[in-house]
Amino acid sequence: MPTRKTEVKKVTTHTLHEMKRLGEKIAMLTAYDYTTAKIVDGAGIDVILVGDSASNVMAGHETTLPITLDQMIYHASSVVRAVDRALIVVDLPFGSYQGNSKEALNSAIRIMKESGAHSVKLEGGSEVKESIERILTAGIPVMGHLGLTPQSIYKFGTYNVRAKEEEEAKRLIEDAHVLEKAGCFAIVLEKVPAALATKVARELEIPVIGIGAGGGVDGQVLVYHDLVGLTTEFSPRFLRRYANLAEEINTAVGKYISDVKKKDFPNESEQY
Ligand code: KIV
Repeated sequence: MPTRKTEVKKVTTHTLHEMKRLGEKIAMLTAYDYTTAKIVDGAGIDVILVGDSASNVMAGHETTLPITLDQMIYHASSVVRAVDRALIVVDLPFGSYQGNSKEALNSAIRIMKESGAHSVKLEGGSEVKESIERILTAGIPVMGHLGLTPQSIYKFGTYNVRAKEEEEAKRLIEDAHVLEKAGCFAIVLEKVPAALATKVARELEIPVIGIGAGGGVDGQVLVYHDLVGLTTEFSPRFLRRYANLAEEINTAVGKYISDVKKKDFPNESEQY
């Protein structure tokens, strides 16, 4: 008798709102390629972010600024082909939305149409309100991003904790309300004091997902390569490494090289 494939209950923006209401934490992680996305989705992650951090960890750039819309669409398409359950959010890259809401809408439409992803994320507060509203007119869900916004690194000058001073903290709280009112389904808060992030999460109805923002928010996001120890030089305080894959891969590759040189690979059973 043919077996029926069990239906996977897909995570939607509504699921995330329900999780916040029920006090269930949201787990979000980056992925940029098919194989990783399949593993991460299979493990039960709620949200996959095709982050513009691909610019750093996949392409080796120093910042997130160089990655293009075409490259983001390529990464997002690979992820979409792998995922059964998670909600997929794709970063609008630097230069594809700032200052021009029509261009923002066109960029978001290209991501949705050409990759098949479920939503987009963009950085900034009141200055991107118009873009968010315009993207939403096309029925595209938008996630906001406040605090340390890496696309503005040349304005900040450093990757240090943001909003430690009262004035910036006040502006961040105002921006969080602006994003919620504009219609964002969630926001990411990056590298801000835990007390401030907790306050924002309490004040907003939409989920607040933190990275380096403490445990008082509605969920956490990390870059996959950092979590599994593929990156070794990046060690901020907020990062917990759950594996040391760089070391494991180095050992495995070393053994392979040695077996080839010793003429131990392939053996009798590994050939035709
Ligand atoms: O691009 C990215 O990986 C991100 C996370 C750090 C939130 O925006």
